[in-house]
Amino acid sequence: MTVLGVVGAGTMGAGIAQLGAAAGMRTLLHDPVPEALDKGTEAARRGLLKWIEKGRTEPQAPELLEAVSSLDELAPCELVIEAAPERGELKRDLFGALSVLCGDDVVLATNTSSIPVTSLASAAARPENVVGMHFFNPPPLMPLLEVIRADQTSDEVLELAKRVGAAMGKEVIVAADGPGFLVNRCGRPFNGEGLRLLQERVATHEQIDRICRLGGGFRMGPFELMDLVGIDVGFEVAKSFNELSFGEPRWRPNPIQARMVAAGRLGRKTGRGYYEYADDGSYRPDDPEPPGVGGGDGMPIALLGTGPIADGLREVARAAGYELREGTPAELVVDADLDWDTPLPGGAPVIRLCAAASLAEQGMYGAVGFHVLPPLEEARLVELTRLPSTQSFACEAAERFFANLGFLTEWVEDAPGLVLGRIVSQLVNEAAFAIGEGVGSPEDVDTGLTLGLSHPRGPVAWSEAIGVDHVLAVLDGLGEERREERYRAAPLLRRAATLGRSLRD
Ligand SMILES: NC(=O)c1ccc[n+]([C@@H]2O[C@H](COP(=O)([O-])OP(=O)(O)OC[C@H]3O[C@@H](n4cnc5c(N)ncnc54)[C@H](O)[C@@H]3O)[C@@H](O)[C@H]2O)c1
Repeated sequence: MTVLGVVGAGTMGAGIAQLGAAAGMRTLLHDPVPEALDKGTEAARRGLLKWIEKGRTEPQAPELLEAVSSLDELAPCELVIEAAPERGELKRDLFGALSVLCGDDVVLATNTSSIPVTSLASAAARPENVVGMHFFNPPPLMPLLEVIRADQTSDEVLELAKRVGAAMGKEVIVAADGPGFLVNRCGRPFNGEGLRLLQERVATHEQIDRICRLGGGFRMGPFELMDLVGIDVGFEVAKSFNELSFGEPRWRPNPIQARMVAAGRLGRKTGRGYYEYADDGSYRPDDPEPPGVGGGDGMPIALLGTGPIADGLREVARAAGYELREGTPAELVVDADLDWDTPLPGGAPVIRLCAAASLAEQGMYGAVGFHVLPPLEEARLVELTRLPSTQSFACEAAERFFANLGFLTEWVEDAPGLVLGRIVSQLVNEAAFAIGEGVGSPEDVDTGLTLGLSHPRGPVAWSEAIGVDHVLAVLDGLGEERREERYRAAPLLRRAATLGRSLRD
């Protein structure tokens, strides 16, 4: 039986100790602050009793858990997981002391979320015995464990961390050391691109959140999420990414975060962040239900283009009662092609996909722009955009068309990919960079984002639903129109698009 030590009995440590005892390991929990040790041990015990009631663990599990008030008492441990405060010097001191106390063979794991594990490993007597075990909050409930391989970590120690994680009932993924490891790195564009869209005033924070929920199936949009986590916490994370990467443009913190922190609007905990929180915690209206499908009444429309958006729209348009035609005469032209050079039939309002370029860049001065994220069966909202020259009858025709297809609509400003297409393209791009740089496998990226961040699907699965060519078109469109390195496509993504292959190949 492995003897497990857990250092730090706070939110994470208490949960990890519960998992250790539940997995049948003798578990010694330490915290130098007596009240914290009592509170953490009590929380872990309560958790174990609940699990015994539910039959999820053995009745003797609570006996395996011991609170120890001095670090010396961790001497018999074969594995120690530290969940002490997020300060590099403190963690390095702990690893130095534990190497002496427990002997050279002890395996030392860190639950750090942002400090390079490689820099902590060098403080241990045997750096090859150090590994990251990144649990998610709350550890007893979150199904994921991200095991981080420091530059020095040995294969045996990596395997041990994976085995222990599996014994604790976790789905284990492996990440190379680096800013945010795998999950937090690949999840970054959700907030980062959300902030950029707000900064450019493509949409308000309420709209961006609604679009993510209804258009993409995310449980929360980036701004409600940032409010929940704490805007100050998010800003610190952003600054740490910036520092560790020596200023990677995709990871630059946003001045909006700095202003929110300076104003003391830190999110839920201060009652105000991007949203204002009522005493009962409420901050936004419930989302509306999408309209029913129908009302096409045999109206002839030209639906152009190939790919999942065009195909999906054709299917719903037929179900809604429209008559689909290849070209004129049609009363409405819906062009869902990525390629925007093809001339369109005249004489009817035009609804044009805004992916590879904004409506303005496409020279579509009278058209309505749209974007929706496939698979269409899961999307409940379509984004629309217009130029000052777009006439209101075209706007009304677009609203009516998508309502008949069963979609809610949201008007936003003109940009390649509009809101959701841009956020998801950057999620896919970050994943492609991470996979290309050997941070993790495509399967682990998707597992990490779905189980660790509750995304409705992983970025690799998104890229397959949307098509890598579509993702690349949005990024190249943004690159062209914004002239920022931030939108450069990952080499792996460009190669996948050129070869017509998936990011998995
Ligand atoms: N909270 C999260 O969502 C989360 C998620 C993943 C990882 N983490 C990481 O887990 C670690 C712990 O975070 P937390 O949220 O549990 O913090 P916390 O503040 O709840 O707990 C930290 C505990 O460490 C104790 N402590 C203080 N000095 C210590 C020392 N010298 N040696 C040992 N323990 C000491 C404190 O008394 C406290 O009980 C951090 O590295 C954090 O980055 C946190």
